[in-house]
Amino acid sequence: MESFVVEGGRRLTGTIRVDGAKNAALPILAACVLTEDDVLLRDMPQITDVSRMVDILRMLGCRVEASGHDMTISTRGMNRCEMPDGLSKQIRSSIFMLGPILSRFRRATVTYPGGCEIGMRPIDLHLSGLRALGVQVREEGGVIHCDGGGMHAGEVHLDYPSVGATENVMMAAATLPGTTIIHNAAREPEIADLAAFMNCCGARVSGAGSAAIAIEGVGCLHGAEYTPMPDRIVAGTLLCAAAITGGEVRLSNAPVADMTAVNAKLREMGCRVAETADEIRLTAPERLTAFSVLQTQPHPGFPTDMQAQMLALLTTARGTGVVVENVFENRFTHAGEMNRMGARILCSGRTAVVHGVPQLNGAQVTARDLRGGAALVLAGLRAAGETQVDNATLIDRGYERIERQLSALGAQIRRIHTGDM
Ligand code: UD1
Repeated sequence: MESFVVEGGRRLTGTIRVDGAKNAALPILAACVLTEDDVLLRDMPQITDVSRMVDILRMLGCRVEASGHDMTISTRGMNRCEMPDGLSKQIRSSIFMLGPILSRFRRATVTYPGGCEIGMRPIDLHLSGLRALGVQVREEGGVIHCDGGGMHAGEVHLDYPSVGATENVMMAAATLPGTTIIHNAAREPEIADLAAFMNCCGARVSGAGSAAIAIEGVGCLHGAEYTPMPDRIVAGTLLCAAAITGGEVRLSNAPVADMTAVNAKLREMGCRVAETADEIRLTAPERLTAFSVLQTQPHPGFPTDMQAQMLALLTTARGTGVVVENVFENRFTHAGEMNRMGARILCSGRTAVVHGVPQLNGAQVTARDLRGGAALVLAGLRAAGETQVDNATLIDRGYERIERQLSALGAQIRRIHTGDM
C-alpha cells in the first residue's frame, strides 16, 4: 500500500502549471475509436485513470504510443467490441466506450463499470439515451449486450443532465445519418471540449456546453491533433492547498472561465483571487472565514468534485459553514477521517455542518475516494505534526504526482510504501 506523509504547517507559495483535464482526456480517448486514422493527443495527464483507459484501448486491439505527455492513438487494428471485464470494473469511464464502439461496429458488450465509491452511480441514463437511438439493450448476469443494427438519429431526453450519458450519446450519434438532439444535456465544460475534439475529427456537433446539443451525423471521422482543456478540479485543489495554508499561489494554464463558482467561494472565505485569461493568482489570509452555505450542482453550479476540498478549508475556518451534496448520495466519507484530525463536522444524509476549529492535529487517515483523498492531504497541510493519508493510489487516479506539485510549492510531503494490509 502507498501512503502520503504530510508534515503540516508550511505556507505554500509559488507558481505551478495546471495539467490536462482527466474528465476531458477520458472521453476523448474513447472518442478516438470513432476514427480509424491516427490521433495525436497532447498534454495528456499522467494519471492512473488515463493509463487504465489506455489499457482498455489496447485490449480492444488499438495501438497507443506515449511520449511524455503526448499520446498517439491508432484504432485501425481494433478487432473487439467486448469490453474487458476486469478493467471495466476498475474505472467508471470504461462506460464511455459504449457509444463509440456502437458507432463503429453497431454492437458492443460491456459490464457494469466500477469507479470511486461515492454513490450508486447507475448507468440507466446512458442506456435509455442509446435506446432512443434505436439500440437494443439486453442485460444478462451483469453483462450488457447492445445491438446497434437498427441505430438511427433521434431525440434524446435525459431525465437528469448526466455528464457521462451526454457524452456517450454524443459519440454514438456522430456517424448516424440525420440529426440527433440531446435535451437536458449536461453543460460541463469537458463536454464542450469533447465536442471540440470530435469536430476537429470532422464531426458536426453544436450546442455543447448548453442544455441542447445537436449532432449532425457524418459518414466518417478523420484523424486530428488535439490538446484537452486544463483540469479545473486540479486547479481548484491547488488553490485550496494555498488557501488552507494562508499561502499565495499563481496558476498558469488555468481554465479561468470555468472556475467562477470555485473562485467565488474562495473569495467569500477571504482570499484575494485575481484572474487573467489563463492565470489565477490567489492570496489567502492567515485564517479563512467560513462561507454560510455551499450546494453542489451540475455545471454551472458548484462542482461536486470540489466539495471535499472546500470541506477541508472549512475545518479550520472562522465560523460555521454548511455543505449540501446534491449530485452524489455518498460523498462525505472524508468527513469522518477529518474528524479524526480534530475537525468538527456533523453529517446527516446529504448535508454536512462544519464548525471551524483553530487547529487540526496530524493523524493516520484513509482516502476512500479520489477527491476525498486529496482533501485529506489538504487537511494534513494545515494540521500540526504528521498526517499519514493511506490509499494514496486512489489520489493518483486524478492527480499527476500530487506530492511533487505540492512540494514544488513548499509543502513537506512524501510518498511511502507500507506493508500490504
Ligand atoms: C462525471 C465526472 C465526475 C463528476 C461527475 C459529476 C468524468 C470522467 N467524471 O462523472 O468526476 O463527479 O461527472 O460532475 O467525467 N446517474 C444516474 N444514472 C446514470 C448516470 C448518472 O442516476 O445513468 C446519477 C449518478 O449516480 C450521479 C449523478 O447522476 O448521482 C451524476 O452523474 P454523472 O453526471 O453521470 O457523472 P459521471 O459522468 O459518472
